[in-house]
Amino acid sequence: MATRYTDTPENLRFLSSRLREGDLVAVPTETVYGLGADARNEAACREIFRAKERPPEDPLIVHIPEAFDLREIARPGPLLGKLREAFWPGPLTVVMDKTAAIPDIVTASLPSVAVRMPAHPALRALLAEFGGPLAAPSANPFAYISPTSADHVEESLGQRIRYILDGGLCRHGVESTILDIRDPACPVLLRHGAIPVEELEETLGQTLAYPAEDAPAARAAPGQMPKHYSPKTPLDLIPAPLSVNDERAGRNIAFLFFRKPDSLAAGDESVFWLSEQGRLEEAAANLFSLLREIDNRGYSTIIAEAAPDYGLGRAINDRLRRAAVKRRTPCEE
Ligand code: TXA
Ligand code: MG
Repeated sequence: MATRYTDTPENLRFLSSRLREGDLVAVPTETVYGLGADARNEAACREIFRAKERPPEDPLIVHIPEAFDLREIARPGPLLGKLREAFWPGPLTVVMDKTAAIPDIVTASLPSVAVRMPAHPALRALLAEFGGPLAAPSANPFAYISPTSADHVEESLGQRIRYILDGGLCRHGVESTILDIRDPACPVLLRHGAIPVEELEETLGQTLAYPAEDAPAARAAPGQMPKHYSPKTPLDLIPAPLSVNDERAGRNIAFLFFRKPDSLAAGDESVFWLSEQGRLEEAAANLFSLLREIDNRGYSTIIAEAAPDYGLGRAINDRLRRAAVKRRTPCEE
């Protein structure tokens, strides 16, 4: 049964000692909540996979304190300086060659490691106290919707973990952007996220590459499964604009708009929107919590409208697309 702790100095000392002993601690980040363990402790990291029912071929992101020599765990390469200056602490994860300090379980035996320096003040304080690298995937059961509050973590993992650091609601609401910087001539975007591609390209003065469909495993983003971030309720994603004046209206269907529709039938409780004014930051911050809320209401289907396909809209659409992938029945495989 999980207990929630606020970020008092005493609690942070306690939680840090639990991490040193090899326990799991769910932590707030500025993107989504993570399920943390000492990244140098193989047995502790194994527990993360068990608690989430996560397949072992899906590697973990390592979170570092500000005062930490990154070279202990990775070989930074020439692009890191600019990125670190512009985006750390913050929601950018970079993939680099790893050192022997990181056990294979963390990286799914890849020769690379994904690292970020988080910005959430409570996690920064915990990391400063802990003084080492923390492996932490999103704190949700594998493939379900990522948690953006301590309530979400408690709801889905509360029976499997003992400690949650409660840092309130997550500001960005979608995961970090992941960039592979091992080839400085060709940085590869592995996951759209809270930092828009446009900002990364401007900072680097380079156009980003995307992994080819048939990329060898070492160049792709392992763990970016087609079906991911998924509510239990089936979800259909359609291009904007979505319309409720449709033969489907009134049939136990939830309609999820990007922006509040202009004309709404009074009292229509099956209509939801990510942002009243259509603001991308707000839409991203609401996405996962609204999907959970709709998922708990027992609709037969969710029909969702795509966000504009630029800036944070790309991260939102990536999550909606994966949420819409149907679980294949054995006959189809
Ligand atoms: O915002 C975030 O990144 C959150 C918070 C908790 O930090 N974490 C998160 O972790 O989203 P997770 O486990 O849900 O997603 C991690 C993904 C993996 O599924 C994989 O796609 C990628 O990071 N990844 C990790 N290590 C990698 C590596 N060495 N090479 C390529 N991709 C890697
Ligand atoms: Mg995740």
